[in-house]
Amino acid sequence: MDTPQLAIAIMAAGKGTRLKSKRPKVLHEIGGRALLLHVIAAAEKIVPANRIYCIIGHEADSVRAAVESTGVQFVLQPEQRGTGHALQMVKAFFALSGQPIPENLLVLSGDVPLIRPETIASIADVHLREHAAMTILTAVPSDPTGYGRILRASPDKPDVTAIVEQKSLKPDQLATPEINSGIYCFRTAALFDKLDKLDTNNAHGEFYLTDVAGMLVADGQRVVAVKADSVDEVLGANTIAEMMHLDAAMRLATARRLMASGVTIFRPDTCVIDSEVEVGADTILEPFVQLLGKTRIGSDCRIRSYSVIQNSSIGDNVTIRNGCIMDSSTIANAAIIGPYSHLRPDSRIGEAAHVGNFVETKKVTLGAGSKANHLNYLGDAVIGSNVNVGAGAITCNYDGVNKHQTTIGDNVFVGSDSTLVAPVTIESGAYIAAGSSITEDVPSGALALGRARQVTKPGWVAAKKAKQNTAKK
Ligand code: UD1
Ligand code: MG
Repeated sequence: MDTPQLAIAIMAAGKGTRLKSKRPKVLHEIGGRALLLHVIAAAEKIVPANRIYCIIGHEADSVRAAVESTGVQFVLQPEQRGTGHALQMVKAFFALSGQPIPENLLVLSGDVPLIRPETIASIADVHLREHAAMTILTAVPSDPTGYGRILRASPDKPDVTAIVEQKSLKPDQLATPEINSGIYCFRTAALFDKLDKLDTNNAHGEFYLTDVAGMLVADGQRVVAVKADSVDEVLGANTIAEMMHLDAAMRLATARRLMASGVTIFRPDTCVIDSEVEVGADTILEPFVQLLGKTRIGSDCRIRSYSVIQNSSIGDNVTIRNGCIMDSSTIANAAIIGPYSHLRPDSRIGEAAHVGNFVETKKVTLGAGSKANHLNYLGDAVIGSNVNVGAGAITCNYDGVNKHQTTIGDNVFVGSDSTLVAPVTIESGAYIAAGSSITEDVPSGALALGRARQVTKPGWVAAKKAKQNTAKK
């Protein structure tokens, strides 16, 4: 069996006590994606998924379910007894599974999500070049409080003498500015040799992976530090406040990526844009827009303020006016939506169609050039092209038990305030009189009236008043 040169272990078994949350830390999201998925995505750029070992423990089933589609392998750490213990589980996993032990093991933290593949690659390079037993990614943040600190042999050499955790810092070490990112590359044999010698004589009563640094140095082996280019990249997410800081950093990076490709974003700091969102050139995003999930927007669109668009696909030249909510829907080129339209899942809006004020759609196809501009509910319907749906007209799709379909052909005119009681079909070119309740199919080209005929009584008001006056006397 070939010995792979490099594999990656991701520590993701911890509870995240400092978050005070029911959800495991690595499933909290920044930029619209779980922390662990960000780390896996970066790792996958360096080694194939089957050489990524995710160490899971706390809420293992839900963590596994959330990331297993990536194809990574899982190592169970049933009790979380520290980062050193997490790597002891990896050692045991290789022994039990018989999988080939990689020459070098890169270790990432599931709660350090902004790490870039370029940085992971560079620590692996330095590690091999320096013939180190352990290479540590470090940084110098403005406030190092809470992190493990790097003690160097001399400030101008990469060699490290030890990592000291915050709670174990001696008074003269408190000012040490360089922090441990929790990201390392190990010569696997050197790491595995030391893991069994770790102890829990420390403030947390845990096995610290960081203690391996001092043990290797004591053994005469090389431990070196590589400083990350950007501090943000190695910040950990241990509290909700830290998580929100990383979220803002990631979203700003996404906004910058989009602006660099020709998208105009007014006040990008006010927009919430998930990391997988794509937007075409010359599209304009106004302040306070949210683009979430796997949303794709074409070019030359304008998305006006306060619109929230999730997992939707929007063509070119589309205008989304203020305050629209859209989920899992598609909108073809040149359509105009809003203000205040609510497109629920499976709304398919055709080319140059209009959906206007206070219109709700669900599981609906609205054909090219069709209009539903004011106060409509359109659910479970297939509507052809160039249809005019008048103000207040709705589909009655639910009979209290089941949902039923409404079908409307091309060029139909649906008068205002009509109720279309499904299942019902209105064939092409038909007219529905305003205020009708339509319960039967309407053939092509017909006019359907489904309301009581108007009765007008001339002089009725005066006659009524006269009668009232007589009664008072
Ligand atoms: C750790 C480092 C610290 C470093 C910091 C960087 C140790 C002892 N300390 O501290 O030097 O500055 O990261 O962010 O390693 N985990 C497990 N199993 C466990 C415990 C933790 O898988 O038993 C996982 C957690 O899910 C997390 C990662 O390991 O993803 C780091 O654990 P955490 O408790 O956040 O360590 P820090 O206190 O941040
Ligand atoms: Mg941490």
